[in-house]
Amino acid sequence: MKKYRIGIVGATGAVGQEIIHLLEKREFPVAEARLLASARSAGREIQACGNLEVVKETTFDSFNGLDIAIFSAGAKNTLEFAEAASKQNCVIIDNSSAFRMDKDVPLVVPEINGDCLEQHKGIIANPNCSTAVALMGLYPLHKRFGLKRFFASTYQAVSGAGAEGVILLDEQIKQHFSIETQSAQVESIFPHPIAFNLIPHIDEFRADGYTKEELKMRNETKKILNSQNIRVSCTCVRVPVYRAHSISINAEFDSPVNVPDARSALEDFSGVELWDIPNAQRYPMPLNYSEKEICGVGRLRLDHGFENGLAFWIVGDQLWKGAALNAVQIAEELIERKCLKTL
Ligand code: A2P
Repeated sequence: MKKYRIGIVGATGAVGQEIIHLLEKREFPVAEARLLASARSAGREIQACGNLEVVKETTFDSFNGLDIAIFSAGAKNTLEFAEAASKQNCVIIDNSSAFRMDKDVPLVVPEINGDCLEQHKGIIANPNCSTAVALMGLYPLHKRFGLKRFFASTYQAVSGAGAEGVILLDEQIKQHFSIETQSAQVESIFPHPIAFNLIPHIDEFRADGYTKEELKMRNETKKILNSQNIRVSCTCVRVPVYRAHSISINAEFDSPVNVPDARSALEDFSGVELWDIPNAQRYPMPLNYSEKEICGVGRLRLDHGFENGLAFWIVGDQLWKGAALNAVQIAEELIERKCLKTL
């Protein structure tokens, strides 16, 4: 079996670490795992895909000989290094927002629009984490009933803010219970305390009162579902949960809906499962959908606010389907479809 040389930019970060883990777990055919990060991490040793690898500083020459580079180091670093990587014949899968809305860059959830990979020009964008999880529930319903509009309220884990977000929640909980912490005062990357709190503010506010994170749900949904007519309103909330995002969705459809058909549409779609027996207290929650590849849908019911409406609750691991898993699935699909430059 052919093996591939894969670079991970941001290998020391929260998503980068999960990419390494998933490449191993899914037995991705790795010939070389090149771990790239900032100068701060250069020289660090990390076990990856069967070898003890030394992390290297990312430079313009880092991509020589690679088939694929998965970037998870923020938009600024993608913008700095993507062109150099592309010139070295390496296909980029980018987790940041840098290229998501670029018309020449496919924005891909493999189960939904994997066919768009055939048109890639060297860069493929991974969607925003909440959008990816929300669409795993919305897409099968859209295919069955035709999605007209939806309202989403997100409950987003701290892992979405990177490794620092996870450390910060830990430290604030410990400080609350007067448990000794690594550092007495952790500088906050959130605008307010996150432990024992909810913050209805992710990313910057825009003039219309929405945040950039909320806009991602609207714009990326339209691009991935290839439908400019779908209307979206979203409120994004950071919650003191470690790594799985939950989203409450109220959706209106073109055709009449019913719960049995909605259930069967979801059951037939790979990547989601119904976890929905309310009387047995069975519904998805962040604790039982962390480190799970599949997203869970529960609380599925008719939405009384619409003529043809459905309401549901979906949970997915932010670090996996929201980022690392989706990126690794894209890499697998690129190989399957023979869409690498080096093939
Ligand atoms: P480093 O650990 O060396 O700072 P997270 O989203 O969890 O905060 O992770 C961000 C990732 O992006 C880390 O792996 C971080 O590496 C990496 N990173 C930050 N700045 C750069 C840079 N200038 N070049 C390459 N990688 C970077």
